[in-house]
Amino acid sequence: MPKGRPEIVVTPDLSTLIEIAVKRVAARISQARSTVAICLTGGSTPKPIYQRFATEPYRSELPWNSIQWFWGDDRFVPLDDERSNAGMARAAFLDRLPIPPANIHAIPTSAPNPHEAALQYEKELKRFYGCHRLDPERPLFDLVLMGLGSDGHTASLFPGDTALSEKDCWVVGVEKAGLPPFVPRVSLTFPVLASTREMIFLVSGQDKRDAVDLVLSGQDLPAARAHAIGNLVWLMDRSAAPEAYRVSSGGP
Ligand code: 6PG
Repeated sequence: MPKGRPEIVVTPDLSTLIEIAVKRVAARISQARSTVAICLTGGSTPKPIYQRFATEPYRSELPWNSIQWFWGDDRFVPLDDERSNAGMARAAFLDRLPIPPANIHAIPTSAPNPHEAALQYEKELKRFYGCHRLDPERPLFDLVLMGLGSDGHTASLFPGDTALSEKDCWVVGVEKAGLPPFVPRVSLTFPVLASTREMIFLVSGQDKRDAVDLVLSGQDLPAARAHAIGNLVWLMDRSAAPEAYRVSSGGP
């Protein structure tokens, strides 16, 4: 971890992880002064977290007009494809809430190819930020949610890919990475993901334990390169926690 030690929260089970994640996201939203920018992750772990936002008390209490939604990565598939991260989040909560369409900034997978989509999304992020250079004093996001693959990937930044060390582009097209069958993807790069007041990794399940162990012990896996200007939090359930971390530290 390049920038300080992460906060590690281990919950007894997945349902507690979901509750804590929902409360942390809601707390971050309430702390923001006006506009809140949240960067979502894909995968299966966040889905029940997203679904909770469409229920009370969050449905009534969160300032939906003031929250801008972005994605850290997506598969280059149409929105209605079941592999679409934006499609998943829309179905889980965004489409069920009174959110102005202009607040939803999905990665444009109708672009001609992933590289063009990356260029378009980079433009969109810069337009929202109001500048072409990231200022550490003024993070792009209030909160970035991240997931972890059992191979150590995060967002769509996979082991061995050149995108891991990208410093200039904000967004990249990822043609061939991960395990076959390959699905082309689009991903934000580490410096852009790091431009946040808080980054929370959401990790559940025994199949993630070895990767968590390697990342937290400093092995050079993609997720170990993730950092944040603000707080970096690893929120995991006990089944994903390596032995040394298996004492639960997070209650509801
Ligand atoms: C995606 C993300 C990926 C994901 C991890 C964890 O799949 O869209 O790119 O980084 O967050 O693979 O996924 P699970 O939550 O399904 O384990």
